[in-house]
Amino acid sequence: MIRRLHIMSYELDPLPYEYDALEPHISEQVLTWHHDTHHQGYVNGWNAAEETLADNREAGEFGSSAGALRNVTHNGSGHILHDLFWQNMSPEGGDEPEGALAERIAEDFGSYEAWKGEFEAAAGAAGGWALLVYDSFSNQLRNVVVDKHDQGALWGSHPILALDVWEHSYYHDYGPARGDFVSAFFEVVDWEEPSARYDQAVELFE
Ligand SMILES: [Fe+2]
Repeated sequence: MIRRLHIMSYELDPLPYEYDALEPHISEQVLTWHHDTHHQGYVNGWNAAEETLADNREAGEFGSSAGALRNVTHNGSGHILHDLFWQNMSPEGGDEPEGALAERIAEDFGSYEAWKGEFEAAAGAAGGWALLVYDSFSNQLRNVVVDKHDQGALWGSHPILALDVWEHSYYHDYGPARGDFVSAFFEVVDWEEPSARYDQAVELFE
């Protein structure tokens, strides 16, 4: 007899601030669509893929399993990165990093300005996300260009800061001027959560 294993069910958390809290940098309309429709879609997609995998294991039929596994990485990465993105911003943001993370950025990139210039280049080129990650293999911070939600990932990396540059993230507010949106992100970026994630990564991996 095949035992039905417990399946994780993922849920969408509310935004950590009001929908209009990041105006004028990101509009209430964009945050509403982005969180309630797009992010919710990735949560739903992840849950559906887990159901398919569990059903197939139970039935011993794996014809749709490879597609479902792809849906787990696509939708799962979408859920994880959106969670991070919301937490990386706040109405009180707009400052530069402090403490251990600031020191490590200066150490690994030369300066905050060098890191920021490289991150902005990643954000201008990505077909999905610009990420600052802690690479546990090389023991250093790095910027990463991500297409969709999962293409371009470096194994063993722990995301620290995430910027969504999908068109749904900015087109309604900025049209094709993605650079203006990237500048706006730095007006609301909040380094508290990234700093905590950096401390956590170093504790886990160093
Ligand atoms: Fe998004």
